[in-house]
Amino acid sequence: MAYDLLKGKRGIIFGALDENSIAWKVALKCKEQGAVFTLTNAPIALRMGAINQLAAECKSEVIPADATSVEDLNNLFEKSVQVLGSKLDFVLHSIGMSPNVRKGKDYGDLNYEWMLKTMDISAISFHKVMSVAEKQDAMKEWGSILALTYIAAQRTFPDYSDMAQAKAMLESIARSYGERFARLKKVRVNTISQSPTMTTAGSGVGGFDVFMSYAEKMSPLGNASAEACADYCVSLFSDLTRMVTMQNLMHDGGFSSSGMTSALIEQLKK
Ligand code: NAI
Repeated sequence: MAYDLLKGKRGIIFGALDENSIAWKVALKCKEQGAVFTLTNAPIALRMGAINQLAAECKSEVIPADATSVEDLNNLFEKSVQVLGSKLDFVLHSIGMSPNVRKGKDYGDLNYEWMLKTMDISAISFHKVMSVAEKQDAMKEWGSILALTYIAAQRTFPDYSDMAQAKAMLESIARSYGERFARLKKVRVNTISQSPTMTTAGSGVGGFDVFMSYAEKMSPLGNASAEACADYCVSLFSDLTRMVTMQNLMHDGGFSSSGMTSALIEQLKK
């Protein structure tokens, strides 16, 4: 439903790889609510993915940027402000990758070079994005910056490996930079902790289908879909949530507050 919640707002959306990506759904919903934005992804992902299709649908320009490169980010923010015609109201960081997970490394035998890469891509890039935005003074007052995270930052999940440490760091960066950006520019910074969702990044985690069906049963409302996550992102980019900042917001159908659920008891009784 279009409510014009983001009418006239401008932004940057990171991380739409294909139509399963959470960022892809966020882009479509932002467009539906009246926003204009640029789309970005790592150059290699742009070659492999289908982002041009999304860009045509959203009438967006695609600007390549490896989110670990400050140089690329500088170019991205400069060009985005230029193309969109003013400073930005919102930024979505929807980026995650662990070479250790991708290559099936056992947690007791992590490759530490790769672990640093995991941190850089999945967490420190969020700091770099905000630091570039601050230095270029690219955000408008009362702007909103969001990153996507997972509850493995607080609790252990087998096979999530060093992504758990990356998500813990990501959430911590949101708090620290949230305090700074609020003070400097009244910009809010939050993370959304999303249910397991069938995407390229999600399905890279071992036993992901089991993860998903367990979470479904442990969530009184069921798993939150990527579309529902996109709706939540829209609300956090809108003016209706101006005083929400430095939060890790659970978007998980109630999973994080459940000790046991009737659905799981029923299943275990069988
Ligand atoms: P996805 O695979 O569609 O998106 C991940 C994106 O990160 C891709 O577009 C990829 O190209 C991008 N990326 C990787 N390295 C990059 C780099 N160096 N520079 C710029 N972009 C880079 O998967 P999904 O699930 O949409 O992931 C989006 C976010 O949601 C990630 O932060 C993920 O951890 C988070 N999340 C996903 C959940 C899931 O179960 N799928 C659950 C909770 C959070």
